[in-house]
Amino acid sequence: MAYDIIAQEMRRPTVFKDESALFPDYVPTNLVHREAQLKSLGRIFRVTLESPGTVSQKVTLVGDVGVGKTAVAKRFGSTVESLAKERGLNLKYVHVNCYKDRTLFLVVRKVAQQLIPGLPERGFSAQELFGTIWDTLEGENAHLLLALDEIDFLVANEKDAPLYFLTRVADEYIGKPQRLSLILITRNLDFVSDLDRSVQSTLLHNIVRFERYTSDQLYDIIKMRSMESIKEGAVSEDVLSMIAEIAAPRGDARYALELLWRSGKYADAEGSNKILPEHVRKAQSDVLQFPINIIMDLPLHERLFLLSVAKALKKSKSAYVTMGEVESIYRLVCETRSIEPRKHTQFWEYLQNLKNLGVLQTKISGSGFKGKTTLIGLMNVPAEALESALSGGI
Ligand SMILES: Nc1ncnc2c1ncn2[C@@H]1O[C@H](COP(=O)(O)OP(=O)(O)O)[C@@H](O)[C@H]1O
Ligand SMILES: [Mg+2]
Repeated sequence: MAYDIIAQEMRRPTVFKDESALFPDYVPTNLVHREAQLKSLGRIFRVTLESPGTVSQKVTLVGDVGVGKTAVAKRFGSTVESLAKERGLNLKYVHVNCYKDRTLFLVVRKVAQQLIPGLPERGFSAQELFGTIWDTLEGENAHLLLALDEIDFLVANEKDAPLYFLTRVADEYIGKPQRLSLILITRNLDFVSDLDRSVQSTLLHNIVRFERYTSDQLYDIIKMRSMESIKEGAVSEDVLSMIAEIAAPRGDARYALELLWRSGKYADAEGSNKILPEHVRKAQSDVLQFPINIIMDLPLHERLFLLSVAKALKKSKSAYVTMGEVESIYRLVCETRSIEPRKHTQFWEYLQNLKNLGVLQTKISGSGFKGKTTLIGLMNVPAEALESALSGGI
């Protein structure tokens, strides 16, 4: 029975040609509207190919969610690997997401796993393991281009230490060829002022900025991506512009691609051989009703803040809570997780970001409150669901 149901479901007609080309991890060959960023990276790392070993290049990519930072870094990394190969140079690109690997040890271990297959897991400190990596690079006369994505997580967890280590480590091998270059990726540079001066100057030395996409740019992106993923004639230009318009306030390509994918899913579910505006509308309400995957990708303290809003709302059983209520729960939440809480001044920024994402809303208090107070409420997500999703992930 189950076999027939599943087999039949899989034989149903579909608007997709290759659904996986819309998944968030897929790295497209062409990245439209990111020519300037790719050029900057090319300029910065030219020396690594032309005079390998002379300098350790470092660059920071900065921009909001879904603006192509990860995709550009990965595409750049694999291109540089091939260019190096053409020159007979052994250069390896390794991409580590600090959202998943949040300590120096985990980052270094991830690098070791990629470079030295079969290395025993146990008995190493991060420093020892890095020493082994360096010896391997020396032995193979190889170079490592390491991308650390979402470095805010590393900093939230271990402060300066990992970045200090990775940006200074080459200094220990003075007089020897430089073998490590870094691409650091972050949503913003707010945390930088708390760091050690030398780490600060490294982070701020070469910055490549990624602006939010405009609706025209989003259109071009999803048009191109739809050609790889959706059957010819199954999605009209109108539908693509509609999606681009919906995603434009965020300038977020990930959101636009998720809308396209979900719209296709609705078309399939209804047995339609075309994606129609109604499918987009349904997809939109889905994505907004439960943007949990977007939430889970937020920086640590924004998630802690949001978790505190959910807890405060549950406790007060009302539609809105005050910043004071959220703040006292936030402190508790941080304390139970042994995480250093952020300062009060940051909360307004978190609030603004979460409002932009469409997760939180605010209003100014009316009667029942002394003076004017900002009240915070949730949009489209039940507090209970949000709390359980966030508690699991932190
Ligand atoms: N210029 C572009 N062309 C095609 N796809 C893009 C472009 N920019 C972003 N994307 C796609 O949008 C999604 C989000 O991009 P990503 O690189 O993950 O953003 P960020 O790392 O800045 O949050 C990914 O699926 C990516 O492939
Ligand atoms: Mg990213």
